[in-house]
Amino acid sequence: MGNIAILCSGGDVSGMNPAIKYFVEYSIAKGLTPYLVYDGFEGLIDNKIVSASYQDVSGIINRGGTKIGSARSKRFMEASYRKIAKENLDKHRIDKLVVLGGDGSFRGMEKFYEEQGIAFTGIPSTIDNDIAGTDYCLGVDTALNIIREALDAIRDTASSFKRAFVVETMGRDCGYLALVSAVTSGAELCLIPEVSYDLRKYEARFRQELLEGRRYFLAVISEGVRQSSQEIAAWFEEKIGIESRITILGHIQRGGNPTSRDRLMAYRFIAFGIDGLLRGEKDKICCYNSGKLNYKSIADVANKKYEIEPALMELAGPCLGN
Ligand code: F6P
Repeated sequence: MGNIAILCSGGDVSGMNPAIKYFVEYSIAKGLTPYLVYDGFEGLIDNKIVSASYQDVSGIINRGGTKIGSARSKRFMEASYRKIAKENLDKHRIDKLVVLGGDGSFRGMEKFYEEQGIAFTGIPSTIDNDIAGTDYCLGVDTALNIIREALDAIRDTASSFKRAFVVETMGRDCGYLALVSAVTSGAELCLIPEVSYDLRKYEARFRQELLEGRRYFLAVISEGVRQSSQEIAAWFEEKIGIESRITILGHIQRGGNPTSRDRLMAYRFIAFGIDGLLRGEKDKICCYNSGKLNYKSIADVANKKYEIEPALMELAGPCLGN
């Protein structure tokens, strides 16, 4: 029934490996021959494309990262390299592609489809959870759990020493990771790029709470906010009168064994995406909304800004300064 390939593009997420494993299994079950493209779009250009069997993907379901590598490819933005990529796919008679990545990768694929006619389906995969049109992106659940574990551990030491801890999460321009983590860890302060803030609004309340016996503060700050973690920590010391420390969680948020949810969603996305390609979908993104998978066009996904659900903002209430 033809040849199909998978590649990962952009930041890796925990959940890519289960997706790659099931891609191979599901493709074979559907009569397709699966191929793995190593190192994202770079691998398409450099012909790092190999056919895969069950053995190639055994033992990876529990591993973070991606066995086939990922990349942020500048070359794929140029038409001349996209032409080479198409020639390489032709060598393997591959006419369908599953792309795990973010909106930038999908925009690249859309161009590739329009110019070169390779059908593709995109599976939203980013810990930032910042893709419009889908409530959930592969990998965000594992990242949230990694952050939760870190915050739980920090709470232990913060309470022992009477300190304010400023914890910086990833997320680029999207505050989803910070917001959900702040809510589910009971943080006192949460700063995200989507909400403008004035630290002066917290001062009287925080000082009063200290007088009443509060021992520590947890502040969860998204990396995209206008002030640095250092500035927020200095504010705690100068204006609230409590010693402070900073933890920048960094790339540990991108690793770790995928959670059950991310594994299951990887399987569901893959099956849905391949079924769509087999039915003749050519350039759609697999999305997940209100518990259901659905296809959306690139225009509805990659050209719009993701907005955090207002209900979630409401839950965050006081730590967002409301
Ligand atoms: O998009 C995922 C992400 O982890 C962001 O949260 C972060 O800002 C960025 O990638 C880090 O990129 P890199 O791994 O290239 O340093």
